[in-house]
Amino acid sequence: MPHVTMTVNGNAVSEEVPGHTLLVDFIRQNLGLTGTHVGCDTSQCGACVVHVNGNSVKACTLLAAQADGAEITTIEGLAQGDNLHPMQAAFREAHGLQCGFCTPGMVMSAVDLLQKNPNPTEDEIRGWLKGNICRCTGYHNIVKAIQSVAQQSKTEAAA
Ligand code: FES
Ligand code: FES
Repeated sequence: MPHVTMTVNGNAVSEEVPGHTLLVDFIRQNLGLTGTHVGCDTSQCGACVVHVNGNSVKACTLLAAQADGAEITTIEGLAQGDNLHPMQAAFREAHGLQCGFCTPGMVMSAVDLLQKNPNPTEDEIRGWLKGNICRCTGYHNIVKAIQSVAQQSKTEAAA
């Protein structure tokens, strides 16, 4: 069995796993980080999005062994203690979650979007979220949440 070593939310982890273990299953089952969700297992829904070396990736599309040596951030790694990450706070504020099942993947994708494009248009936000399916919100409040974080950062940068 391959020996897999990676950093997850700042912690070094090292385990032997069967070669066919998906990264999402490794995160949820081996590490007990169940904030990363599985909505489809067919790479469509985006509920499983985590950051791999700073980029949002569907964790059901990657084997754990392929992430050997990588830096992984899951939804559990975003908040600082009791302080929510600004994107998490904005989702809550703008009512960007209803059932909440898609939320971890949405938040991880949204954080990556603003890292790459701090000032996206509404179309760019909607385009970026094409790989994330939400069955509840109609996306409007999710888009508003992302826009409010982008606006906040702009205001902070100008201050
Ligand atoms: S569980 Fe990975 S895309 Fe749906
Ligand atoms: S809030 Fe339910 S799927 Fe998005």
